[in-house]
Amino acid sequence: MALKITVIGTGYLGATHAAAMAELGFEVLGLDVVPEKIEMLGRGQVPMFEPGLEELLRKHVAGIEGSTGRLRFTMDWAEVAEFGDVHFVCVNTPQKHGEYACDMSYVDSAVESLAKHLRGPNLVVGKSTVPVGSADRLAARILELAPGGGEVELAWNPEFLREGFAVDDTLHPDRIVVGVRSERAEELLREVYATPIADGSPFVVTDFPTAELVKTSANSFLATKISFINAMAEVCEAAGGDVARLAEAIGHDDRIGKKFLRAGIGFGGGCLPKDIRAFMARAGELGADQALTFLREIDSINMRQRGQMVELARQALGGGSFLGKRVAVLGATFKPDSDDVRDSPALNVAGQIHLQGGQVTVYDPKGMGNARRLFPTLGYADSAIEAVRGADVVLHLTEWREFRELDPKSLGEVAAARVILDGRNALDPELWRKAGWSYRAMGRPTA
Ligand code: UDX
Repeated sequence: MALKITVIGTGYLGATHAAAMAELGFEVLGLDVVPEKIEMLGRGQVPMFEPGLEELLRKHVAGIEGSTGRLRFTMDWAEVAEFGDVHFVCVNTPQKHGEYACDMSYVDSAVESLAKHLRGPNLVVGKSTVPVGSADRLAARILELAPGGGEVELAWNPEFLREGFAVDDTLHPDRIVVGVRSERAEELLREVYATPIADGSPFVVTDFPTAELVKTSANSFLATKISFINAMAEVCEAAGGDVARLAEAIGHDDRIGKKFLRAGIGFGGGCLPKDIRAFMARAGELGADQALTFLREIDSINMRQRGQMVELARQALGGGSFLGKRVAVLGATFKPDSDDVRDSPALNVAGQIHLQGGQVTVYDPKGMGNARRLFPTLGYADSAIEAVRGADVVLHLTEWREFRELDPKSLGEVAAARVILDGRNALDPELWRKAGWSYRAMGRPTA
């Protein structure tokens, strides 16, 4: 009989995973503790912006005309336990308030709530990003709580999806990593990820700690690449070099690679910043903090980029105070093709300038609702051209395609001064300069 899948937690990760599992042909039951989310998902609506996800969901959510009916949602733990053979835990692990460590309370409570109802052979699969050692601890907790005892097993299967590409990354992963303690767990996961999802994707089987560490070390490596190129941008600034050309040139070396070498205002979002901090905190607990001291520097280079953007804006306005100056900010989300503003470098820069007296107007194609909720005191406009109207300086802080396609000439007609600062090194300098703008990007020559 075909396996039945449940997915606990329906954020970016869980909603996408649930829809992808239904796409593979499984019967899927998703659970969340937030009633509004369950209601929306049950109507085939996605509570966030993620390209392609709503279409995939509507294709499978039961009750939607023409759907396969393979995907349903509930808030009932007993129903989930009764329904599934394999239970994916996809709840989030945010940074603890005022600490580096991550907050495991959602994972702990999800695993405990589920375990209490698990009577027969079941596999609980952790997907959340957790401090190494968590799987070990959770396996012991399951054994304590589950009426099914040793028949209920745990596996760890980290997820590497990127926001904005969540559907594609889930259906066509670079690799599948599973931390298991038994052949049965490995076999079940091989069955779940049988073609087409794993077609050509390497399937890496490890122990628990390695599986947990693969995720945190991958994110640390990516963060390191970005901060490395941002450090090079700073040196380029000082020496008169061009970091974009430098990145292109070093990227030709396959050992380095071209990706994640775009200099600018740095990384943000719900993953990279909190993951490197939680990794440092966990290494400290394990007595291995010396091994990760470099991540402190990666974090501080990253945070410094935001301050440098503010300073570039100040210089562009004559070097004095921001008081009375109008600053247009293009972009609010932490990256394009997402409405996520968690730890967004763009909003951080906008907020700093606002606090220093600047009159900031933000526009973002998809992040306006979330940005308004988080920073209600900033000014907002309904389009790029409205944000730029009357601006003394324009800051390009999230590289949406819409911004690359802007017409610098029309914007120049409404701006008070034609000065653009490209915080993402993503616009075409020649295009803007030809239209009479002074174009400035981080780590690149002024003209
Ligand atoms: C990241 C990992 O890529 C993903 O594998 C993991 O599962 C979750 O964390 P995500 O947070 O969606 O994914 O964003 P990502 O595309 O990695 O970008 C993170 C940040 O780095 C963004 O703010 C982006 O603007 C910035 N970035 C990325 C750069 O500043 N320069 C680059 O060259 C690349």
